[in-house]
Formats: sequence, structure tokens, C-alpha cells
Amino acid sequence: MNNLLQDVAARADAYLNGLQQRKVAPDPAAVAALDALDGALPDAPCDPREVIELLDRYGSPATMAMGGSRFFGFVIGGALPAAMAANWLATAWDQNSAMHNVTPATARLEQTALRWLVDLFGLPAGTGGAFVTGATVANFAALAAARHNVLARAGWNVEADGLFGAPPITVVVGDEVHPSAVKSLGMLGLGRNRVVRVPADGQGRMRIDALPRISGPTIICTQIGNVNTGASDAVAAVREHAGDDAWIHVDGAFGLWARIAPSRASLVDGIERADSWATDAHKWLNVPYDCGLAFVRDADALSAAMAITAEYLPTRTDGRNPADFTPELSRRARGVDVWAALRSLGRSGLEEMIERSCRQARRFAEALAASGFEILNEVALNQVLVAFGDAARTQRVIAALQAEGTCWCGITVWQGRTAMRISVSSWATTDADVELSIEAMRRVAAETE
Ligand SMILES: Cc1ncc(COP(=O)(O)O)c(C=O)c1O
Repeated sequence: MNNLLQDVAARADAYLNGLQQRKVAPDPAAVAALDALDGALPDAPCDPREVIELLDRYGSPATMAMGGSRFFGFVIGGALPAAMAANWLATAWDQNSAMHNVTPATARLEQTALRWLVDLFGLPAGTGGAFVTGATVANFAALAAARHNVLARAGWNVEADGLFGAPPITVVVGDEVHPSAVKSLGMLGLGRNRVVRVPADGQGRMRIDALPRISGPTIICTQIGNVNTGASDAVAAVREHAGDDAWIHVDGAFGLWARIAPSRASLVDGIERADSWATDAHKWLNVPYDCGLAFVRDADALSAAMAITAEYLPTRTDGRNPADFTPELSRRARGVDVWAALRSLGRSGLEEMIERSCRQARRFAEALAASGFEILNEVALNQVLVAFGDAARTQRVIAALQAEGTCWCGITVWQGRTAMRISVSSWATTDADVELSIEAMRRVAAETE
């Protein structure tokens, strides 16, 4: 075991160091060579070192360099050194982090990380939380708490009796809601289509003047950090309109982190007036996949939706049982990576990381606009939308840039316009990486008809 882990550490180190030299997208030949890992399952065992050697020889070159400093697709963070190393150690611990008494170290670390985050995000004291796989499941867990709460107040126990015969719930979403939140509504039996869609403005914000009149059990799904523009709904104005009885949920997959950056925090003012929040740590906090977080002001509503009881599960304990708040029972201790990331950055390091991404996004926008390309969004956070001309030309430039390999950006269609998305989310991105990528974008665009 000793040599095996040393061997894998050396290989991982070489892989990470090599990310600066290689193209961001994998070479097509390397992807084709994955066939070597796809043979029949051998009958006999083999040395674990041989397994790792195979993975490294064929797997490593076929990866997308998402952990590197010039991947700007989707909203993808890298992995901070402390978070990656903590992840390895936690894997060695191999704790099934469901119950406090059984896995006290990881249960305690998660509780501490949640406390730090509630404080950093400025959420109400007493807010409960859960570590889940990502924002999709964080939306699911938080909205399950919402469903519990609004129906309990209408005299219905949804966990016991299901939705058949329950009082109807009005669900309100913005027109630019992230599709994963809509999927979560579907998984909860609230319907993907059975929602009131509120028109959005040119940045994707819910139009407050177009909100419906609110009455009866109601859940309003707001969003901070639109995946295309980075724009945020005015949560305080939604609360003013809806009153205290509606449950307001905030999908802040990456936008919630803006709360921590002094120059950005005012963009997400008022989110503390919501009832629940979903975010990702694997995006802007830069911990390894997978790691999302659900927060619920009324922690009891979250545990009412999530806790299970059984004779063999010691749920009555002095400490907090993580499984009382999560959709899963058995799971890895993903909060350890978060604890490590926060402990290594400290408050000022975290602020600096978020501010830096936003500053770098603005630099992209200014430089590309100066080159005559069209920036389609107000660059409020870390997202930039660029059009290089009409849809076909923008598509060609994106494809050529991905093939050229200095950096990687994806495509989107924003309110009818085809655009390249630049999402700056990695701790590893330096100002030099930004300049190198801008040069590549200009060069590739000039060479593309
Ligand atoms: C606003 C928003 N919500 C939800 C998600 C889904 O996050 P995840 O892929 O971590 O489930 C994303 C992903 O980019 C997002 O931007």
C-alpha cells in the first residue's frame, strides 16, 4: 500500500504539473486510445500498481484539463491543494459519514464547515445545512424542505401521505431558471411544467413587476448567478412582493459566493430574507467533485424531509447526524474537503479568490470588446458572453479555439444570440493565463472566416 500511494502521488503530481504544457482539450488520438481500457474483464487479479499504471498511461492524456488554469467552460473550479490533499486523506479514512457517534471526526468537521459557511454567507443564525453531490441535489433537498413546510402549514404531512390529495402548491420560477432546479421540482412531484414562469429581463433576472399575486401554499425559486450572465434576482424585492408566507428558495450554485467578495456582495443583498439556499463547493470554492450544499433557515423542515429512523440506526445522539439532513444515508465525507479549503484560504484568501475571478472576467470582457467583439452581458460576476459575429462564425471560432488548445470555452445561446461563454472559476487562473487566453482568442478569431 505504501509504495502504491507514493507511486500514485508522483503520477498525480506529474499530471498536474503537465497541465500547463498540454492543450486543454485532450488529443483525439488519446481519446481513441481509451479502447485499451475497454477490453474484457480479466479472469485473474493483477498487481494494483499495474492498474494505476494503465489508468495513468491511457486515462490521464484523455482527460480535459479542468483542474488546470485555462479551462473556462461551464462553471468549473479546480481543486485547491489543501482540498485535494484532504480528499485523499479522507479517502484513506473511508468514513461512512451518516451518523455522528459512528464517525465523529467527519461529522464534527462537517458541522464546523457548515457553521463557517452560514457565517460567511451571512445566513440567519440557526440555519441548517447538508452536504450533497452538487447544486442539483442541493436544490432538491432544499425544495423538499420547502414542500414539507408549506404543506405542513396547510395541515398536510407530505412525507407520510404523499402528494395525492394534498393542497395544491403554487411554484413560481423565473424564465431563466437553471434547468437543474426545474428537474428537482419534477423529482419532488411538483412538476417540471406545472410552474408559473415569470418573464426575465435582458440579463436573466426575474422581472419583479411581472410576479403573480401570491396566495396559498407557494414556493418561489429565485436565482443568484445566472449561468450565462452571472446576474442575480432581487431576492429582497421578491420577499416584499410575496410576503412572509411564501417560501423563497435561492439557487446560488456559484452566485452565493459573491456574498463573500466585498465589491460584489451588494449584488446579492437581501438573500438572507429567503428560506433556503443551494450552492456548489465544487464550483467557486474549488474543492474536488462532487460537492454541493443545501441550507435551510428552518433546520427542522430539512430534517423532517430527510431523516429516517430504524432500530439499527442510532439517530438519537448528542451530536448532529449528517444523514438526518441529506437525501443519502451512506455517503463520503465531502465536508472534509470543504473544511480544508476554508481552513487553508481563511476569510481573506476566500475573498481574494472570488474577487480575482470577477476581476479577470472583466479583463476578458474589456480586452475582447476593445478588439471589436461583442460582449452580450453586463459582467457582474465571473461570466462573460462573447459574440464573434453571427451564430455560424461564433460557432467556428469556438471550435477553432477548442482545437487550438490554449484555453477551453463553451457555447451557449443567450436570448437568441449564439455566444461563447467564458467562466472564470478556478483558483489556479493567473493574470498571465488570462492574457495568454485573450491573445489566443484574438489570433484564432483573426484566422477564422
Ligand atoms: C444556477 C445553477 N444552478 C444549478 C446548477 C447545477 O449544478 P450541479 O451541476 O452542481 O448540479 C448550475 C450549474 O452550472 C447552475 O449554474
